[in-house]
Amino acid sequence: MPITVTPTGAALGAQIAGVDLRHISDADFAAVHRAWLDHQVLLFRGQTLNDDDMIAFSRRFGELDFAPIQENGRRFVEGHPEIYVVSNVIENGVAIGSLGAGEAVWHTDMSYLDDPPKASMLYAIEIPPAGGNTGFTNMYRAHEALPDSLKRRIAGRRVKHDGTYNSGGYVRQGVTPTDDPREAPGTYHPIVCTHPETGQKCLYLGRRRNAYIEGLDLSESEGLLDEVWQHATRDELTWYNTWRVGDVVLWDNRCTMHRRDPFDESSRRIMHRTQMKGEARPVA
Ligand code: SIN
Repeated sequence: MPITVTPTGAALGAQIAGVDLRHISDADFAAVHRAWLDHQVLLFRGQTLNDDDMIAFSRRFGELDFAPIQENGRRFVEGHPEIYVVSNVIENGVAIGSLGAGEAVWHTDMSYLDDPPKASMLYAIEIPPAGGNTGFTNMYRAHEALPDSLKRRIAGRRVKHDGTYNSGGYVRQGVTPTDDPREAPGTYHPIVCTHPETGQKCLYLGRRRNAYIEGLDLSESEGLLDEVWQHATRDELTWYNTWRVGDVVLWDNRCTMHRRDPFDESSRRIMHRTQMKGEARPVA
């Protein structure tokens, strides 16, 4: 079956059919790579992957990042440091993954690092009967559609990407929490970045909690961030995946953010994620 690319019809995202990610030819990989740059988020349905398959496909994009440390101090799946487990499942009293069953707020993966991962890929192994949908927002469009006055106010500025809390609101291992964004650990990146492969401008915001615009009074930074975040997460800039077992979703962290709806904590959700290293620091 030939590979097909079907845009979602929303602000971003496309579904790819006609590929088995375990055996993908160079020509099909080139088509997937092009579609990923064009649509920012790709959905592949009906995949059957083990962790080695996930890692092998993810490596086609370049070197992988190790998974972040989970809230409970576990680092990764035995033998597979590249795999991050997103799950609410508890086994023998120990959480097997991160982020629980609550909402995961809008964010870009691991942007508190100097060199954040360029892409992430999430594979659905078990899903709850309802909820737990994952949404994406188009940060090219968010930048394009910024009112001129807001563009002027953020021009040339950098924002701190907080390293205290993960998107589920849990404190990261080894961090002493503070809610003063000026004191919180994190990394400054330009608010408006240039995508290194497409050359297009996009907003690069990371996480709202503990964000801080360098050089502004705290109250001024908070007010400006609220305006920019409200703009960047409007429904018309988003697309949501309603998961099925076997779905793989691959996204570009440089020009999207994502969030997850909560779900019933008595149901099970198990997803495995890889993250592909960025080749360059985010630049204006
Ligand atoms: C993530 O933020 O990488 C996980 C999103 C999800 O659980 O759907």
